[in-house]
Amino acid sequence: MLFLGLASNYSGRATLSHLFSLGTSSDYKNLEKELAKRFKTEISQVSLVYSGRTAIFLALKSFLDSGKIKKGDHVAVNGFTCKAVAEAVKKAGLEPVYIDIEKSSPDFSKESLESKIKEDKLLKVFILQNTFGIPCDISGFEKIKEKYGLLMIEDLAHCAGRKYADGREIGTVGDSACLSFGKGKSIDTIIGGAVVLRNNFSFPKSFKKSDLKLPKLGDSMRAGWYPLFGVIARGLTHLHLEKPFLGLLLKLRWIERSADTALDSSRTITNWQSKLALSQLKSLRPTPLRKYYLVENREACLKELKKHGFRLEELWYEVPVAPERYYKSLHYPEASCPNAVRFSKEVINLPTWYKDETHKNELKEAEKIIKSFRRTK
Ligand SMILES: Cc1ncc(COP(=O)(O)O)c(C=O)c1O
Repeated sequence: MLFLGLASNYSGRATLSHLFSLGTSSDYKNLEKELAKRFKTEISQVSLVYSGRTAIFLALKSFLDSGKIKKGDHVAVNGFTCKAVAEAVKKAGLEPVYIDIEKSSPDFSKESLESKIKEDKLLKVFILQNTFGIPCDISGFEKIKEKYGLLMIEDLAHCAGRKYADGREIGTVGDSACLSFGKGKSIDTIIGGAVVLRNNFSFPKSFKKSDLKLPKLGDSMRAGWYPLFGVIARGLTHLHLEKPFLGLLLKLRWIERSADTALDSSRTITNWQSKLALSQLKSLRPTPLRKYYLVENREACLKELKKHGFRLEELWYEVPVAPERYYKSLHYPEASCPNAVRFSKEVINLPTWYKDETHKNELKEAEKIIKSFRRTK
């Protein structure tokens, strides 16, 4: 069987080591040190934080504190994204402006960004997402940044460890690199993140790394158990019992939906998560996080895939700003983002983390099914 979610990116060994993982304060410090080295900045400009959205929030707060932008300014966000990104922008007192993606690409182009800058004088920051780990045309975006004096955030949730066409690593170009260590991300400790400031930016005066508290015990336990619950839920799909099992875990608050992760700038991650994140950071795969395809009748395609044992429903993203249950409340400008609306109706993902021959053959079979539904125009 193939899965997109349910901690299917964790091998059996990783599940066990996650469950019994221990760490020390040196692991925590070493992760900060490694992030500073990798993203070419100072350790005082790096902080391990509660979640990816907290990282984006703190980067924006640092820009505000520097006086380079002011409350109410606009931030260009990919038109195809997760609500966590918009949440971080709003919480910082700024306004997200969605930029439509290209017809057959999950990211906006430099041309679309530039035309938005020309019509929106409050646009002062842009966030590059490199969705699924597909690198954008970074030199084009750099020229725009210089020409208009904008600030750039590289959101590494999907793309940590990937390189741009000119060989530079993603996260070494902008004014900040923001990492999520959430479920299924490039670095995955179930919950967590890191903010890396660059180009002489420093953290807001109101934020002190030494004041950060550890996650609540419940959060830490939820993070430890999740991969094991994933194994059980994946096993239960054979009996069609995974939904009641996951429903019960949610009711008991033993697991949490990814989109509901908190934005909390008062907390950090544990030492054991730092140890795992550091080892993942050192061995990031040089491949996209997920492969994507556009299909004509996604519901039918997913049904056919399910019939063959391929559970690919947890795709990114089923609506332009996911997840669907929050979509209406975000008042997404569908009329100005038609490509993202269409893309989110047609996109299908394939996992890239399965390594053994059996799964590789299954991936080929799933790809064949997807191709028979492929968009033709
Ligand atoms: C593109 C992108 N950036 C940032 C985030 C925020 O991550 P977190 O859930 O760790 O806050 C997400 C979350 O799903 C995401 O998809």
